[in-house]
Amino acid sequence: MLMGWTEYLKWQGNEGVRLLSECGVCSEMNILDFGCGIGEYSIPASIVVGENGKVIAIDNNLHRVNALRENCKKWGVLNVQGMKCNENSEKIREHSYDCVLYFDLYHAMGKEPQVRSEENQRILNLITQTLKPNGLLLISVFSEMCLIWDEKNGERTPKGSLKAQKVSIEEGIRWFCMIETIEKCGFEFQKRIDEALHFDEFYRHSDPDMNKFERGNIYVFKKI
Ligand SMILES: C[S@@+](CC[C@H](N)C(=O)[O-])C[C@H]1O[C@@H](n2cnc3c(N)ncnc32)[C@H](O)[C@@H]1O
Repeated sequence: MLMGWTEYLKWQGNEGVRLLSECGVCSEMNILDFGCGIGEYSIPASIVVGENGKVIAIDNNLHRVNALRENCKKWGVLNVQGMKCNENSEKIREHSYDCVLYFDLYHAMGKEPQVRSEENQRILNLITQTLKPNGLLLISVFSEMCLIWDEKNGERTPKGSLKAQKVSIEEGIRWFCMIETIEKCGFEFQKRIDEALHFDEFYRHSDPDMNKFERGNIYVFKKI
């Protein structure tokens, strides 16, 4: 087995589990992993929630959903349901969730101080409708996001990623008004957990070195 893949599986079963537990994920929860990719976080979530819990893992890319299903087989997990769909799907609304993972996506869609991206707003509406009262919304963010904008004549144009601008994620989030925006949707910011892993390199290389992966933050919100 390739080194990167071995390290990946080790991370999922150890650090990934610890990270989600620290965020408040616990046994018997019903989880929605929105934009699940190949299950980077769906597998750790399935381990934490256990056999009496469930993970609905959705992605609009069929190849990724198929890869997720293969990974579930490798792990022997039976409590993950992979679905190829997006925020408009009624199938997601058939369930209610104790926790939604919105990982490595929010910043990629709403690149303005207020969530003006229609897609992001639709996804937040879905999350608000399907999350149970006191349910958790976890959002991971990374410094490769494009949050810095140039303002000229009232027009905003992207200037580059936080990383390129050497701006911290916290500063970007403040500028982006992310916490206020999510709170306006009926959530309360709870805490920030560091050490979220950015899996972008996993898609670019066949055998990436996980030690070089970027570490970002998970923002934990509670529905009120
Ligand atoms: C950057 S990857 C993140 C994967 C994983 N959540 C992680 O943190 O490693 C974003 C994923 O979201 C999916 N995606 C983007 N927009 C989506 C949408 N509107 N509905 C469902 N999936 C979406 C993409 O296909 C991609 O697999």
